[in-house]
Amino acid sequence: MISKATIDTVFETARVEEVIGDFVNLKRAGSNFKGLSPFSEERSPSFMVSPAKGIWKDFSSGKGGNSIAFLMEHEKFTYPEAIRYLAKKYNIEIEETEQTDEEKANTDIRESMYLVSEFAKTYFHTTLLNSEEGKAIGYSYFKERGFTNETITKFSLGYSPEAWDAFTKEALGKGYKLEFLESTGLTIPRDDRPFDRFKGRVMFPIQSMSGRVLGFGGRILTNDKKAAKYLNSPESDIYHKSKVLYGIFQAKQSIAKLNNCYLVEGYTDVIQFNQSGIENVVASSGTALTPDQIRLINRLTKNVTVLFDGDAAGLRASIRGIDLILEEGMNVKVCSFPDGEDPDSFAKKSSYEDLVAYLENNAKDFIQFKASLLMNEAKNDPIRKADLIRDMVVSISKIPDRIQREIYIQECSRIMDISEQVLQSTLAQIVQKETIEVGKKLKQNDSAGQQVFEVVKNENILGIEKVDILYRLERKIIEILLLYGNKEEEFEDTYLKTNEDGEIETFTEKKIYKVFQRIYLSLQEDEVELANPLFRDIFKDLIAFYNEQENFSLEQYLMRLQTDFAQEVTDILMEDERVVLHDWQGQNIFPKSKTETIAQNVSETILTMRWYLVGRIIEELKNSILSESNSDNTESMAMIMDYNMLVHSFSKKLGRVMSRYY
Ligand code: CTP
Ligand code: MN
Repeated sequence: MISKATIDTVFETARVEEVIGDFVNLKRAGSNFKGLSPFSEERSPSFMVSPAKGIWKDFSSGKGGNSIAFLMEHEKFTYPEAIRYLAKKYNIEIEETEQTDEEKANTDIRESMYLVSEFAKTYFHTTLLNSEEGKAIGYSYFKERGFTNETITKFSLGYSPEAWDAFTKEALGKGYKLEFLESTGLTIPRDDRPFDRFKGRVMFPIQSMSGRVLGFGGRILTNDKKAAKYLNSPESDIYHKSKVLYGIFQAKQSIAKLNNCYLVEGYTDVIQFNQSGIENVVASSGTALTPDQIRLINRLTKNVTVLFDGDAAGLRASIRGIDLILEEGMNVKVCSFPDGEDPDSFAKKSSYEDLVAYLENNAKDFIQFKASLLMNEAKNDPIRKADLIRDMVVSISKIPDRIQREIYIQECSRIMDISEQVLQSTLAQIVQKETIEVGKKLKQNDSAGQQVFEVVKNENILGIEKVDILYRLERKIIEILLLYGNKEEEFEDTYLKTNEDGEIETFTEKKIYKVFQRIYLSLQEDEVELANPLFRDIFKDLIAFYNEQENFSLEQYLMRLQTDFAQEVTDILMEDERVVLHDWQGQNIFPKSKTETIAQNVSETILTMRWYLVGRIIEELKNSILSESNSDNTESMAMIMDYNMLVHSFSKKLGRVMSRYY
């Protein structure tokens, strides 16, 4: 694990405008910077960066947060990856902690394997571009395939010399340990003389989503029928072929932006598409698609278009894997190429415009495609047709969304010329069977404390208007906590006391509180928890943070801001910027008055909240009286009277008459 000290240094050093400036063209706008949203296609800028607050806000998508959140969102880094990236950018040495010796050894092993792989990538790439053999054999081969220098660089393509151990010797000479050359599979062990796995091949580095080199694919250049055309790195601690997608590093931004991912078979398809100007493409290279690979895409988009070669045999095989994609709740389209063509060969001979047009015109919804395909096969064979219908319904049963399933049932009924009812009952059978199986599994796992059913409560029973007020009040509380939580202010407490004559009197007392303490205590007193789950979590987080840090600063809080809070918190903090940006007048139920002190602001908000909550109790009491008209209501009536007095006193304190709905 990265030490807290390192993380702190990273946060203190990173400037949000510099970090984002590497990816987005930013222009100064007053004390802020603005630019075009990198998360959507837009012409007028709605992306704001505030150097003072250390945060960014994308008003077109609602996303926002600190530098780390930006990297996680834009580069799809994990948290540690983002920290490592920034450490590298700012030359901060990373200190690792809290690892057992064994964990440490494992991390060291993996780190060493990454280093060896990175070295190999550079070695193969420079050999391709600079050595005589590389230029004559490897480089000219790629040129023949139509790859430009730019493409060769983009994918770090390389060449591994024909000699027995050229790479291994070079790596050992540079101080890399044989142990890691062997564990990455780059070198094949042999007692007398270890040798290169990939000798005489052009090299395709396989990178992770964040760009780390995990392994390689190598293509032979001779027509030797005995040798495999493509050779891949073996499975290792850093390379799990079921978990990677070739091209994901180069494709991730385009996939997220265009909200679609093309899935092809191999390296050359990915590269040729990029060369043609289509970047949102990845390959499962060599293996059948796995759930892990689908989840990788799912982080970026819900839409996948699977591209098939022209031949029919491959088509049948590939179709089987697609149910897995449906199961992840993704929308799947398929597109096949003319006979004898694969995505690579087709892209090579088409212009960008033609390729885009072809994909647009030929991509079909998977379910419809499968239904027509199966129908063609089983035209005159009723028994086969029955099998195929079942096959079809199995696919549909994988779709998690019920409405979508319904639509597909209708479609299939039309395409396969069979009644909806039959399809429905087949679907019901399949779903039931699966439910029983899932149920069995869950029972087995019961000891693990898994929750089988989730009760969904309708939180909106109060009606929109009232919920809205509560929402805004709670949001206001978060805003005050963020902006003034650590300020010391004078508050007035009112309470009842018996005086010397034994009469009850109201006393007021002024006392200094920190704003966060005042808010916390007031809510505690009323036994109120914020209703909105997100606000509730942010509230707890903020209070904890205030309690920990003697000298809370907003910047510090924002540095450590949790990603799930970032959107809401940046929304609150960047409200003013939004108004500047769009010239909007945000509707605000709390008009800012210049003379109002922070203490007043806090007291009013809390009082308004009390007033609202008591009002709600009154409503509930009234409703219960109405619904139980026969029973004795005197108690409820008395309570309503008491509460009404309370509401009255709130209104008096607030100095205005509070109508029920403002
Ligand atoms: N592929 C693979 N292993 C093989 C054959 C193919 O991994 N033994 C993958 C590669 O990723 C390749 C894709 O499938 O990019 C397409 O296969 P193919 O057309 O046979 O490879 P090419 O290199 O395009 O060969 P050719 O020039 O003969 O078309
Ligand atoms: Mn090919």
